[in-house]
Amino acid sequence: MRPGMTFLREVCRCSRGSAAASPPASLSIAAEPSGGAAGDVRRIGRDTGPLRDQRLFLHRWWRDPRGVGAIAPSGRALARLMAARIDPAGGPVVELGAGTGCFTQALLDRGLPAHRLAVVEIDPVFAGRLALRFPGCRVLRLDAARLDLPLFEGGAAAVVSGLPLLSLGLPTVVRILRGAFGRQLRDGGAFHQFTYAPRCPVPPAVLERLGLSARRIGWTAANLPPAFVYRIERSRHGAGRRV
Ligand SMILES: C[S@@+](CC[C@H](N)C(=O)[O-])C[C@H]1O[C@@H](n2cnc3c(N)ncnc32)[C@H](O)[C@@H]1O
Repeated sequence: MRPGMTFLREVCRCSRGSAAASPPASLSIAAEPSGGAAGDVRRIGRDTGPLRDQRLFLHRWWRDPRGVGAIAPSGRALARLMAARIDPAGGPVVELGAGTGCFTQALLDRGLPAHRLAVVEIDPVFAGRLALRFPGCRVLRLDAARLDLPLFEGGAAAVVSGLPLLSLGLPTVVRILRGAFGRQLRDGGAFHQFTYAPRCPVPPAVLERLGLSARRIGWTAANLPPAFVYRIERSRHGAGRRV
């Protein structure tokens, strides 16, 4: 089956449930024969390499600066750091906000089987590109704040997030965390988030209210700008309202 068809099938599958928050715009990506987003996706899908990724990123950022949140994809050092704490044998992983797929590639390089990785991306061009580039993964063009159905039976062991939490706004961040901890992660699962500031992008009061805690697990200067990685998990002491 062609990668585009796999993508279409996955989007359809999600659209049948309440996770069908995303409009069927994604369907047209796979179905349109040429031109428009479909043409972009096919051309961009073949057009691989770091320079092309940067050009695409800049293009998508220009269209939606707050949603994309960066003018260039993360570097390899940060991608390796994000993947380093993921046990490839530990269980399925959900990636949120994958962009051009640098974390996706690092997770696969780490040994995570492609079928145990679900990739969620809201931007249609990025999502189409991801589906072509990673045909073995489940690529879903969806809003991470509206993931109403579990993507893996039994839950995921980890969420790896490249979402620009600081520019998404607190209500959206709360919906994303509620969805991740309430529907995606199994008990003991953790949410891995990168950020450019040396503090967790989720304010302490919000973590507390959701019964979560965060700690910095790494940083790298070999990224532009330097980046920090946080691990968010359910609080052991059970404070706050658990999600
Ligand atoms: C800062 S970029 C990171 C991309 C990639 N992980 C990297 O590090 O290069 C943020 C990504 O999150 C995506 N995004 C933003 N809001 C989203 C949402 N609500 N649901 C899913 N993806 C979203 C953007 O389209 C973009 O691809």
